Amino acid sequence: MYKIQTSKDLSGEVKISWSKNAALPILAATLLVRWKIKLHNVPKIGDVLTFLEIIWTIWATHKFDWNTLYLDTTHLDISWMNVDMIKKIRASILLLSPILHYFWNISIPFPGWCSIGKRPIDAHLNWLRAIWYDYKTLDSNIKITGKPNSWDVVINAWFWVTSTENLIVANVLRPWITTIELAAIEPHVMNLIDFLRIAWADIKIRYNHTIIISWVKELKKEVEASVISDYIESWTFMVLWALASKEFIDIKNARIEDLYSFIAKLKEAWVKLEDLWWDILRVYRSENLKAVNVQTNIFPGFPTDVGSPFMILMTQADWVSKMHEILFEWRLNFLVELDKMRWHTAILNPHEAMIFWKMDLKWSEVTSWDLRAWAAMVIAWLIAEGETRVTKIEYIERWYENFVEKLQKLGAKIEVVKE
Ligand code: EPU
Repeated sequence: MYKIQTSKDLSGEVKISWSKNAALPILAATLLVRWKIKLHNVPKIGDVLTFLEIIWTIWATHKFDWNTLYLDTTHLDISWMNVDMIKKIRASILLLSPILHYFWNISIPFPGWCSIGKRPIDAHLNWLRAIWYDYKTLDSNIKITGKPNSWDVVINAWFWVTSTENLIVANVLRPWITTIELAAIEPHVMNLIDFLRIAWADIKIRYNHTIIISWVKELKKEVEASVISDYIESWTFMVLWALASKEFIDIKNARIEDLYSFIAKLKEAWVKLEDLWWDILRVYRSENLKAVNVQTNIFPGFPTDVGSPFMILMTQADWVSKMHEILFEWRLNFLVELDKMRWHTAILNPHEAMIFWKMDLKWSEVTSWDLRAWAAMVIAWLIAEGETRVTKIEYIERWYENFVEKLQKLGAKIEVVKE
């Protein structure tokens, strides 16, 4: 359990950790390389460790040296795969493509997910079918078999992120040309493509979200690559510093070029920021915040994953703000929990909410099953009056690396208490 007290005079600098959403697809792609991989900047967080545990049961061995991961995927064998762990994380759907490429069959339970909306996997399965795999779903299991075809294929990916990643990995070693139209190009998708290019994959990207993959017969052995820093963590901290820093806080490793839409909205809300070069962003404590309207979008638009921290910022603005979340229909549910902290919000429908002006948040026991809402709630608790007691802390530890330690270093009054 955490005991959190009001902390509005934080100071110092914070270094952003490495991205979970980038690390997971790259880890899946290492199974395609089937040799030795050295991967820098791998976050040691719950989802990544679970993924490593799953692939360890198919003989992908690993060892960490700080955040550098040494993987050996030479001797894969799926006979003893721990399928139960697949239920724990949604990203385990990424295992399908590399395993099918080498073994031509896989039977797994439906992967897990956190509750932010309906999260079907039909596109993953149908697109695998488009390149000639067949699937059957039986109760809570999926069985996929087959051998990929060898002709040109054009698939429309509707900007869906993990499905785009799965499609890329499925087609790198498939003859001949795969064209993915309307592909997602989020920074973590680009990080996966960079990894595969280092491994000799032939992948081209056009300005209109089209990815073209040409067949290569084999991938390079001994690949060395890096995972990017987590732009979602940067956004979350930017909100917190605007509300709770003494004067300003510097964010290192911020990936400023991925933050333009968020920075534009922060400026519209009168948050003071300064680009200090070398990927360092200075965020000042900002009073007199203005209400703004936000609509989430695909990259490089305003991302769905930071809607919840942004709404906390809006509780401190001068008028009514509106949030339009286009993707996940349960993401606004956390407002129900946060109303317990004397918020005034109105959920208009599953995708739209209004946040009313300048509120003094008061502590209350609240909870969430959405990882990004968790980070947002930590911000709310730090600026709320009084002491908050937070249970189910394993959620935050599963998704953010040293989140609480980072805040403590800046002066946040967060105590970890054994329950
Ligand atoms: N969809 C389908 N069928 C599919 C796949 C997607 O209908 O087979 C639709 C669904 O409505 C689904 C939506 O498209 O909910 C989004 O799917 P997408 O593949 O884009 O997202 P995801 O794989 O479910 C990833 C991130 C999310 C992030 C979204 C949007 C990872 C592991 N997850 O989710 O990250 O919110 O893209 O950018 O990369 C997070 O990190 O907090 C998080 C939830």
